[in-house]
Amino acid sequence: MGLDEGKLKIIDSRTGQEYTLPIRDSSVRAIDLRQIREDPGEFGMLSYDPGYTNTASCKSRIAFIDGEKGILRYRGYPIERLAEQSSYTEVAYLLLHGDLPTQHELETWDQEVLENSSVHENVKKFMDGFLYDAHPMGVLVSTIAALSTFYPDAKQIDSRSNRYRQQVRLFSKIPTIAAYVYRKSQGLSFPDPDWDLNYSENLIHILWSGTRRQPGRKESKVLAKALDTLLVLHAEHEQNCSTSTLRQVASSNADPYVSVASAISALSGPLHGGANEAVLTMLDEIASSRRIPDFMRRVKAGEQRLMGFGHRVYKNYDPRARIVREIASNVFEVTGRNSKIDLAMELERIALDDDYFVKRRLYPNVDFYSGIIYEAMGFPPEMFTVLFAIGRSAGWLAHWEEFMRDPEKRIARPRQLYLGPDETELVPLDERLGRARGEFA
Ligand code: CMC
Repeated sequence: MGLDEGKLKIIDSRTGQEYTLPIRDSSVRAIDLRQIREDPGEFGMLSYDPGYTNTASCKSRIAFIDGEKGILRYRGYPIERLAEQSSYTEVAYLLLHGDLPTQHELETWDQEVLENSSVHENVKKFMDGFLYDAHPMGVLVSTIAALSTFYPDAKQIDSRSNRYRQQVRLFSKIPTIAAYVYRKSQGLSFPDPDWDLNYSENLIHILWSGTRRQPGRKESKVLAKALDTLLVLHAEHEQNCSTSTLRQVASSNADPYVSVASAISALSGPLHGGANEAVLTMLDEIASSRRIPDFMRRVKAGEQRLMGFGHRVYKNYDPRARIVREIASNVFEVTGRNSKIDLAMELERIALDDDYFVKRRLYPNVDFYSGIIYEAMGFPPEMFTVLFAIGRSAGWLAHWEEFMRDPEKRIARPRQLYLGPDETELVPLDERLGRARGEFA
């Protein structure tokens, strides 16, 4: 990899002109296309890529995905090994600091995270202002954005030490805020984190402390371990919709709180993180395996999607989905079996054997089974994507920092292909005939 891997020759059939573009890192620079013009007065050629299906917007050293083979690595470490052997805070350290911590570094990091996990009393008051039925993702987006007003120093993004301070704050507070989002929806008070507990145990403590759902010590350990692994699996996934939104917003030098809030907004949609909630709604609608054939008929007719299936990058089994499925049995041992898992497994079996899904290479993604586990744990579906956001916060912050240090960092400003009218004479208001034009006709 590096400079001058080779050359790409392009012949413009309109002019017969030949161009030579350098190939670097197996790619050509989109700006090199600009020299291709039919006549000298033209702007030059653009590449057109709706949905960025074949555009690398940055160079990154954080996550590697091979969608054909179903491989995911965080900074070189396979996701299977991390899920098996590392805690979420360890993985967050890996993403933010570039490598796994030593025992001492992890202890210091865990302590730092705990000490920053409480929120200002006014954050609680701010959250209290939402209506009881506000969607948790809306509350999370707004509260994370509001942190920007509590930490005005966050705007000093050129200071490395200041950036680090904000990253620790945000990473430490997001589980507390997420748990308060849940408690708000249940009409419960906002308890403080317990400094004797680790990250995921604390999450469980804040979520359910003083409620009838509060798990016993043994149950709590199992649930915390399962939640922790789910956070590891969701921690990072390179240039997905939310991460690229974050980079886009950060490119205007916006502070990390509003940048992460924008990423959470992107995550909330049902085609992205909101899919875990949509899977549960779908399973509720199907309700019984007898109705699967009719459901599948509608999916194949394009009337709806099999939520939790398909991925822009994975054209093989999402490696995270496999691990999520395994976690389910541990959770069910303490919560009781969620029968929706049987329906989901039956849907998976039928889909993986069906030409429609095989031909399009649609497999279960991370969201297919996670909601079933969250439901067994006692979360309402509206909370599922909030849990996803806690996990992804590590990846978002790692990308934010990587972007801030990137020597090629520039404000994001894509081009468009303008297909609208040419210069048009403005008819005075009282003379207009009121005809709609083009697509509005
Ligand atoms: N159910 C039925 N058909 C599907 C599905 C699905 N879940 N996903 C894709 N297809 C079909 C689609 O209709 C199209 O068929 P055709 O070629 O006949 O028009 C073909 O497969 C390609 O689909 P696409 O929409 O061009 O693929 P994409 O890469 O733009 O979209 C996706 C990827 C994840 C948005 C899509 O697969 C989807 O909508 N899945 C369901 C939602 C979901 O589970 N999202 C979570 C993604 S994983 C977690 C995350 O990253 O947030």
